[in-house]
Amino acid sequence: MSNLVPEISKRRTFAIISHPDAGKTTLTEKLLLFGGAIRLAGSVKARKAQKHAVSDWMEIEKQRGISVTSSVLQFDYDGYRVNILDTPGHQDFSEDTYRTLMAADSAVMLIDVAKGVEDQTKKLFQVCKQRRIPVFTFVNKLDRYGRNPFELMEEIEKVLGIRAYPMNWPIGIDGNYKGVYIRKQAKIELFERSGEHGQWALPSTQGSVDDPAFKELLGEEIHQALCDDIALLDVAGETFDFDKVTNGELTPMFFGSAMTNFGVRLFLEDFLEMAPPPVPRMSSEGFVAPDNDKFSAFVFKIQANMNPAHRDRLAFMRICSGKFERGMTVYHVQSKKPIKLAQPQQFLAQERTIIDEAYPGDIIGLFDPGIFGIGDTLCQEGSVFTFQDFPVFPPEQFARIQAKDTMKRKQFVKGMTQLTQEGAVQVFHQPDYPVESFVVGVVGSLQFEVLEYRLKHEYGVDILMNKLPYSIARWLIGENLDGKAMKNMDSGLLVQDIKDRPVALISNEWQLRWVVERNPEVEFLVVPEDA
Ligand code: G4P
Repeated sequence: MSNLVPEISKRRTFAIISHPDAGKTTLTEKLLLFGGAIRLAGSVKARKAQKHAVSDWMEIEKQRGISVTSSVLQFDYDGYRVNILDTPGHQDFSEDTYRTLMAADSAVMLIDVAKGVEDQTKKLFQVCKQRRIPVFTFVNKLDRYGRNPFELMEEIEKVLGIRAYPMNWPIGIDGNYKGVYIRKQAKIELFERSGEHGQWALPSTQGSVDDPAFKELLGEEIHQALCDDIALLDVAGETFDFDKVTNGELTPMFFGSAMTNFGVRLFLEDFLEMAPPPVPRMSSEGFVAPDNDKFSAFVFKIQANMNPAHRDRLAFMRICSGKFERGMTVYHVQSKKPIKLAQPQQFLAQERTIIDEAYPGDIIGLFDPGIFGIGDTLCQEGSVFTFQDFPVFPPEQFARIQAKDTMKRKQFVKGMTQLTQEGAVQVFHQPDYPVESFVVGVVGSLQFEVLEYRLKHEYGVDILMNKLPYSIARWLIGENLDGKAMKNMDSGLLVQDIKDRPVALISNEWQLRWVVERNPEVEFLVVPEDA
């Protein structure tokens, strides 16, 4: 047995996926508190409270300087080493949010009990589904009015295409919840409504659901409703199948309240027990097992301009196999160059620290002199391969950009080429367009601002940017894919991506349906085929 195995088996690397306001910051903070990684509740929150000054990139940069410390949060709990990957949301929602999921071994899907499955959650869930990583659901805000849990289960199944297995069950009637019934332990835990905000006591009672003590505690009506629900779940519900969880076909579902710290510890403990440790990753040479002694890692995120004085970049990489040791020399496959990993950084809740060693599942940040691209592989000399290509994520906003000053054309093209390679935006071109310009596609509008700022400050190029009225990109497969041959494309735009694959930009779903119907001989793909 490789001596890496004990380190690997205790690691859990996951991301929390949710829609803004579902309670991700609050839940993260509670998890960190359990791990002793932060002393005071409120420190993660304080970070979030700092408002974005989106018009001023220096401000965003400062914000980044803080928020990057939370790009990965590591803590120990009950013999596990936990890595929480931060998935930027709100105005920060970008391709980075999707890419972060490539570095995770599992995901926690956080849902607001009153709102159910929301838009951003849906998008992030799809990426988890494609990767077949296990998703664990935490239904939050149970301390206040919420929707019927059967309805939520049905919504998860209908909208996301995954069945849910409730690990615990809300007690109460008509969305007025009193606590939860823990199925595995046949135990009831109730809220104590009298405590201070966030510090409610948790009385609990254990016994079978039809225990008279429960009836006394809950009252006749609520007790009966609970008995009925549990009977229904036991008879008609999904059976718990661990293999299905591991394959991403079944999501264990927990109910609780992050703010009042209700059900969080229970969730954390069950989650850590069920969530997978780092698993083998696909590469050009087949699967690479984490306990392979040779070090390997891939870059999943590049954060630029961390320090305004130095204009440096930080490349985040996920270790996939072997042991990382500070100062080791590795081989950067894409540039075909050896690189000494001299100043690796790791992130605790509040500070960056230089690390000496790390294992599969861990994330390290490296200063990047401008050589790394998204998806790049690092390995040990003598075992050269590349990890699977990163997928292309469907952009949703588009703009045409060109250099204000045509004399700056060369710098403009150089900047665009480098920033595209780094994964800051997706670039498309329109071969017959008379002016030197690019059509850029992004997932979130912050990416436009970053692009504009970086072109100006790193390449000295001011740009003109015109937002385009499209929200959908489809990669096309078929014959005669030009503007004249395709029908009903007058309100759309035909472009090519960096690999010269034809792409249609279309304004909305309605237009898309119309174009698809009128061009039955063409295939419309959400992402390119070989992505
Ligand atoms: P996010 O990171 O997903 O955007 O969500 P965040 O944790 O910031 O939570 C969004 C709002 O929901 C916050 O309220 C937070 O207090 C509240 N919240 C989180 N968990 C729970 C919960 O279990 N129950 C209830 N009732 N509320 C919860 P806010 O008014 O925006 O901020 P604050 O004034 O409470 O700090």
